[in-house]
Amino acid sequence: MDLLSFLTQEGISPDLLGEVSAFRTEHPAGGDYAERIPEPAYLYYGREIWEKALAALLAGGNLLLAGPKATGKNVLAENLAAVFQRPLWNVSFHINTDAASLIGTDSYDGEKVVFRPGPVALSAGYGGFCIFDEINMAKNEALAVLHSALDFRRVIEVPGYDRITVDPGARFIATMNYGYAGTRDLNEALSSRFMILSMPSIAKTDLERLLSRSFPGIRPQPAGQFCLLFEELDKKAGHQEISERALDLRGMLDAIGLIQKGIRAGDALEMCIVNKSFDQYEQELIRDVIKSRIPAELGRKELFE
Ligand SMILES: Nc1ncnc2c1ncn2[C@@H]1O[C@H](COP(=O)(O)OP(=O)(O)OP(=O)(O)O)[C@@H](O)[C@H]1O
Ligand SMILES: [Mg+2]
Repeated sequence: MDLLSFLTQEGISPDLLGEVSAFRTEHPAGGDYAERIPEPAYLYYGREIWEKALAALLAGGNLLLAGPKATGKNVLAENLAAVFQRPLWNVSFHINTDAASLIGTDSYDGEKVVFRPGPVALSAGYGGFCIFDEINMAKNEALAVLHSALDFRRVIEVPGYDRITVDPGARFIATMNYGYAGTRDLNEALSSRFMILSMPSIAKTDLERLLSRSFPGIRPQPAGQFCLLFEELDKKAGHQEISERALDLRGMLDAIGLIQKGIRAGDALEMCIVNKSFDQYEQELIRDVIKSRIPAELGRKELFE
């Protein structure tokens, strides 16, 4: 389905969608990199987040999606590139991310030294969206080179070469996860250059729709129990009765996938949810929550038509 019709169905403001269409006309997609325009396999559900994200990008801003694991940060970033019809570059940040890996490096073409552009230079030049995935894994100092691209100057200085101006269709979308091992705080110079969306856990009604779209043939009644289970784990993590480890939507979707392959629910949820915690006492708490919703013996025939 065309993403714009999905967003219309989701009840996204027609004014915003009209502006997205105008953006698409004004910045025709792709050129040499048209094959980089994503065709997302997953849709992001959550009307408010959609509207805020669209408004931010339409206003010319860069977006930082901050939130716990499996809240759909990468799904949303990819969906945004698709709805704006922009070629997409993805950079996974890590401790050794440096200016060269972002902007580009010198390389020898057999005759002379030439500049081989990196993902930031390419997306800037071709009006793409560039995803800075897990931006807070990198050292802040290494990212200073991005400051001029991210603020009103919209240029990248490449020492020894020309300056690259950032195309009006280009946007930068960062993701980050507070408190993951290996992450650090983003310094003010960087955070000041982004509009920051705090990503919530998926709402129950959105999760119901996600399940029925991801697993055609799933029966609404038991699917509803999985949604309630997720909601309950979310509540318990919110009250700090359990850690965030077991609150893992990715894990729950994986478990349903295993049940579809013929594994019993008890075993599937053990593998994909319970065992994410390494604390025996916590594992027992999680098992109790699961037992109250999903019979361990539930199998493919009960869950799927
Ligand atoms: N609001 C949502 N709408 C649609 N899918 C969602 C939503 N929230 C989570 N998901 C699902 O959760 C899974 C993880 O999504 P994604 O990889 O985008 O998460 P993330 O926030 O980037 O996680 P991490 O911080 O671990 O990288 C996907 O299967 C995605 O479909
Ligand atoms: Mg992610």
